[in-house]
Amino acid sequence: MPTLDADKKAASGVGLEQKEDALTVIDRRTGKSYEIPIAEGTIRAIDLRQIKIDAQDFGLMSYDPAFMNTASCKSRITFIDGDEGILRYRGYPIEQLAEKSSYLEVAYLLLNGELPTQAQYDEWVHHITFHTMLQESLKKFMDGFNYDAHPMGMLIGTVAAMSTFYPDAHDIHDPVSRQTQAWRLIAKMPTLAALAYRHSMGMPYIYPDNDLSYTENFLNMLFKIPSASWRPDPVLVHALDVLFILHADHEQNCGTHAMRGIGSSHPDPYSAVAGAAAALYGPLHGGANEEVLKMLQEISSVSRVPGFIKEVKEGKGEKRLMGFGHRVYKNYDPRAKIIKRIADEVFAVTGRNPLLDIALELERIALQDDYFVKRKLYPNVDFYSGLIYQAMGFPTTVFTVLFAIPRTAGWIAQWEEMLADPEQKIARPRQVYLGPGERNFVPIDRR
Ligand code: CMC
Repeated sequence: MPTLDADKKAASGVGLEQKEDALTVIDRRTGKSYEIPIAEGTIRAIDLRQIKIDAQDFGLMSYDPAFMNTASCKSRITFIDGDEGILRYRGYPIEQLAEKSSYLEVAYLLLNGELPTQAQYDEWVHHITFHTMLQESLKKFMDGFNYDAHPMGMLIGTVAAMSTFYPDAHDIHDPVSRQTQAWRLIAKMPTLAALAYRHSMGMPYIYPDNDLSYTENFLNMLFKIPSASWRPDPVLVHALDVLFILHADHEQNCGTHAMRGIGSSHPDPYSAVAGAAAALYGPLHGGANEEVLKMLQEISSVSRVPGFIKEVKEGKGEKRLMGFGHRVYKNYDPRAKIIKRIADEVFAVTGRNPLLDIALELERIALQDDYFVKRKLYPNVDFYSGLIYQAMGFPTTVFTVLFAIPRTAGWIAQWEEMLADPEQKIARPRQVYLGPGERNFVPIDRR
């Protein structure tokens, strides 16, 4: 507990217990001085509550719209150093995982904290593969969507509907149930996504194939024509697997925050994942990959890039260079660097995406323009990923779905960590009320 010295004498430091890792705060309204402990580079907002004008005062709160400087949890999953452009899952650099691991191995790592042994990995892959099928009734849900429904809307709706198929999922305090839901969610998200895509294309659904790898099976469910034999190109399978690794977790972003916030009231994880996916859908978050493609198509030629940059600068935040900027990274997003390399491998198979030249020119100009340099705006994960997805044959409306599938592992890992954390409770922020004081109701004929 914080050391509180309400004595005015203490304001001058006399008699105040000096702690090494503490913040001394002097309240100029009262002249009182307080010692607030510092741990892990933070003070606890609740420690401010003791700072009062008088006994009736509620106490001081911190005000932090959009969580610009507030940690809402302690986590051991993902580390980001935004100034240095570092990203690690459970301590492992993203570059090493992207080069040496597979998405399912990374998903295991995120959830369990350690890389699996061969036996653990085989068992894990077996469980995920075993759970890829959907309840047949889920197809009826999908059929209910309009032919032009956005695949993210369909994914969010159907993953929420899964909650009704698995009543055991409500038992979130049972580790066996949580484990089963984790298998189901990671296994079934690609199947749901493929179903949504095939529905929007008016194509027959393809069932999962247990002989294929996670990523290969997903591509098969998306693109296979039932009457023809088809195998996805291994280069594209590998590229998508790396993209899945890069998107698997990213600490306390908007979608993960939604997952933890919804999860904190203890619903089943399908409902929480639906909420997290809805947060991801927004164009400032995972929806940015779709927006980048639309932006590149709108610019349409390299010669129009300077004019577009000018519009962004004059737009004063209204018009943004999509795929640029990040709340945490004030340096090149390490994921964007890896994606740029993967793009070359993909384009060697699919042919070069003609929009790449526009993207490269945007990046070249932006990285030397004062507006972007001063604000430390660099390409983020979404800037180049859409170019790869498009070259691989995905329509733009599926791009954010391709983000949601791998992020599911991160969401579940963060949800599990939240549930196990004795310091966490139902998430319930405070507000600063600025509305009218009490007033009497006026009947409608006298207003
Ligand atoms: N284009 C032009 N100006 C920008 C951009 C951009 N992409 N991003 C930020 N700015 C400006 C912004 O107008 C502000 O300028 P000023 O200080 O003059 O008001 C300054 O830079 C700081 O921006 P902010 O909005 O306060 O920063 P934020 O941390 O709240 O927002 C962001 C982060 C990612 C929402 C924002 O950079 C953005 O909108 N980027 C474009 C959308 C995008 O690519 N999102 C994907 C993010 S990475 C993947 C993911 O999260 O899913």
